[in-house]
Amino acid sequence: MADGLGIFAIPNLLIMKVTVVGAGNVGATCANVLATREVANEVVLLDIKEGFAEGKALDIWETAPVNLYDTRTVGSTNDYSKTAGSEVVVITSGLPRKPGMSRDDLIATNAGIVKTVTENVMKHSPDAILVIVSNPLDVMTYCAYLTANVKSTRVFGMAGILDTARYRAFLAEELNVSPKDIQAVLMGGHGDTMVPLPRYTTVGGIPVTELIEEDRLTAIVERTKKGGGEIVNLLGTSAWYAPGAAAAQMVEAIVRDQRRVFPCCAWLTGEYGVKDLYLGVPVILGKNGIERIIELDLNEDEKALLATSESAVRDVKHVLDGLNP
Ligand code: NAI
Ligand code: 2OP
Repeated sequence: MADGLGIFAIPNLLIMKVTVVGAGNVGATCANVLATREVANEVVLLDIKEGFAEGKALDIWETAPVNLYDTRTVGSTNDYSKTAGSEVVVITSGLPRKPGMSRDDLIATNAGIVKTVTENVMKHSPDAILVIVSNPLDVMTYCAYLTANVKSTRVFGMAGILDTARYRAFLAEELNVSPKDIQAVLMGGHGDTMVPLPRYTTVGGIPVTELIEEDRLTAIVERTKKGGGEIVNLLGTSAWYAPGAAAAQMVEAIVRDQRRVFPCCAWLTGEYGVKDLYLGVPVILGKNGIERIIELDLNEDEKALLATSESAVRDVKHVLDGLNP
């Protein structure tokens, strides 16, 4: 609209806000990548631990003059009003398993956290798209979906980008090529039953099977499945650089409406013969969240591996259903 000076007023400047809940290893790394890549104007980091998110956010903000970006990072101790109006919210809050804690205890504890966090997030950002990172991933995503009570295309989980990144990194090392040129698809749950798919893995467009011996490829697939455990054994805690970067890549695809093709943990309603379960599948990610689930024509071996993974995720889901958090 023309103003009195004969120039045009700029209509509603786009202010993009992203929140990351949990300012621990993964959450802070994700916020740092989002800020450095200027994916949003403002990144809010929230944690329940007094002063923790404020400290991390301030430290990240103090890298802006060095790394030359102007995304504002803001910390919050459990004050969700600061997250209001977020377009995307990444949920990383949750505990790792501690000695004496059973797997079911962990599910109960983290489900309680994810539920409370999702309720608070939705109260202040009812239109947000949710990217879940907390473990056990597939079932925590389901928990957030039940709580948020929005379309499943707006609630999904990060695991496949991390798991394929590990697979691609191992292949790049083995073949002595750039990881940029390795493309891969991986399906199933985020655990040892995940299904890397060599038939859908290429190196600069060349099928990977033409470049590597079968036994080496099998060893890399097996290493990928246990990739999370490999880091835990080295560090005594789980990974954060690759998970944080992977979650940030999903946020970027949404915020910039990139329509990237990624393996993500999505709610299935019959795709691949799987119904009413969150499971890793290839999707197109854009401004509406999951724009489309891509259905591959799997062979019988691949279908069998996916069925095993589905059943492992269903077992954990049954625990959650029994808890009714
Ligand atoms: P961390 O312990 O470093 O950080 C978790 C943070 O959550 C802590 O700062 C804690 O204070 C916070 N928190 C706990 N309850 C909260 C609540 N109610 N509200 C707000 N904040 C709360 O753990 P890390 O390494 O960052 O991992 C976070 C989660 O992500 C874990 O469940 C881990 O297993 C999972 N993870 C998942 C991956 C994936 O591929 N999906 C990869 C790596 C980790
Ligand atoms: C990972 O894969 C533990 O989910 C975590 O690193």
